[in-house]
Order: sequence, then structure tokens, then C-alpha cells
Amino acid sequence: MRKLAAGNWKMNGTQSDLAQITQIGAAFDAASVDILICPPAQLLIPAVTASPHVAIGAQDCHASASGAHTGDMSAPQIHDTGATYVIVGHSERRTDHGETDAMVNAKATAAVDAGLIAIICIGETLQDRDNGATLNVLAQQLTGSVPALATAQSTVIAYEPVWAIGTGLIPTLDQIAQAHAFIREHLTAQLGATAADMRLLYGGSVKGSNAADIFAVPHVDGALVGGASLSAQDFAPIITALQNA
Ligand code: PGA
Repeated sequence: MRKLAAGNWKMNGTQSDLAQITQIGAAFDAASVDILICPPAQLLIPAVTASPHVAIGAQDCHASASGAHTGDMSAPQIHDTGATYVIVGHSERRTDHGETDAMVNAKATAAVDAGLIAIICIGETLQDRDNGATLNVLAQQLTGSVPALATAQSTVIAYEPVWAIGTGLIPTLDQIAQAHAFIREHLTAQLGATAADMRLLYGGSVKGSNAADIFAVPHVDGALVGGASLSAQDFAPIITALQNA
């Protein structure tokens, strides 16, 4: 499987930031891992041509292909920009927009139907972890959010503890190992053999300084990176660490 270094710019970035994508592509023009940037929606079309070496994805899609949904974008529309991925069910969308597992499942289905690769995000809150409920929460999210049609080619899972996102806190390597092994096992029961090759990303405060340790954990096949993906300078060492893993 080709590992994946994915950047999620969230609601950051204007046209002048496209140069960061071009720089990353130039620095990794023969990368042994897949490199992805998910910029905000208004940058999708120019981002697609910013570098032939960086794939582009959206940060959300609607579950319907078209219709009266002001402010939303559909998976076929994202595909039409030349983007190839879409993140669904990020914890910020689950929190800010009340997205449920069923909604995330419908979005992931729409994404795959449109020919996009869906990155489905799951992760426990600090309260879940303190309550010893982490694995139960992950099981529930996987069962609810990952559609039956998901394959290793069409779908990526991002494990992002909510309390580690944008906080500088990361779980211990043992905690990451436990979560990723559990996710692989659960997906195998849920989807069958395809789960063996499905890429499982870790996300939450990944930086150049902790990336190598995280990528050495079994069943960590890449990262979903927020803050440290905004500049080529910060993202490059993470990609290098993944290539060396
Ligand atoms: P962070 O965000 O790297 O800034 O913690 C990760 C994410 O939300 O995908």
C-alpha cells in the first residue's frame, strides 16, 4: 500500500498560499508516498494545477448529487474540479454542524459513488477516553460511518482523537497503537479482506518533531495534518518521515 501524507487546511488559505502546494510538489517530485492537500473550497480549482505531484481534496461534501442546498458542494462537483479526495466526518464538522455517523456514511457513499476517495474521520473526546470508552466509541463510529461499499482503493480512515486536534497534545504511542490495531481488526470484521490494505491515518498535532515516532507505530499508514500542513516548510519534514518509515 502507498502511504498517505494528507494536509487539511481547514478555513485557512487564499490564492497566495497555492505557492505552498507548488513548493511541496517540487520538493517531492518523485515521492514514494501519496501527498494530498485539502484546501478550502474556493482554492480547489487552482490547487489542482498547482503541482502534478500533490493530489487535491475537499474538506466536506453533501450527500446528494445536486439540489436545493445553499452553500453546500456535492461530490460530483468536487470531482469536476479535478480533486480526487474528500474528507468526511471531521470532528469539527461533527461538532460545528451536528454531523452524525449516518450523515457521514451518506457523504462517504456519495463521495465513492462520484469516484472520489473518502477520508472518513473518527476519534474519541477526552471525556470518552477518561471514561475508558475510547474503543467503544471508535467501534460505534466505524460501524455507523463506514459504508459497506468501502474498499481499500476508495476509502481511507483517519483516527483523530478530538482532544489532540490543534492542541499540541498527542496520545502515547501505545495508545495510538492500540487504537490503530483495533480499527484494523474492526474494519476486517466489518468489510472483509479489503480492510488489510485500507490506509489508516493518525491525525492530531502531528509535527515534524513527532512524525517519525508516530509513523513507526504498527497500522499507521500516514497522517492527516492540520496546522503543520499550512506551510511547505512545516509539511516537508512530515512527508520525509513518512517516506523513511
Ligand atoms: P492538527 O489538525 O494537525 O492541527 O492538530 C489535525 C486535523 O484536524 O486534521
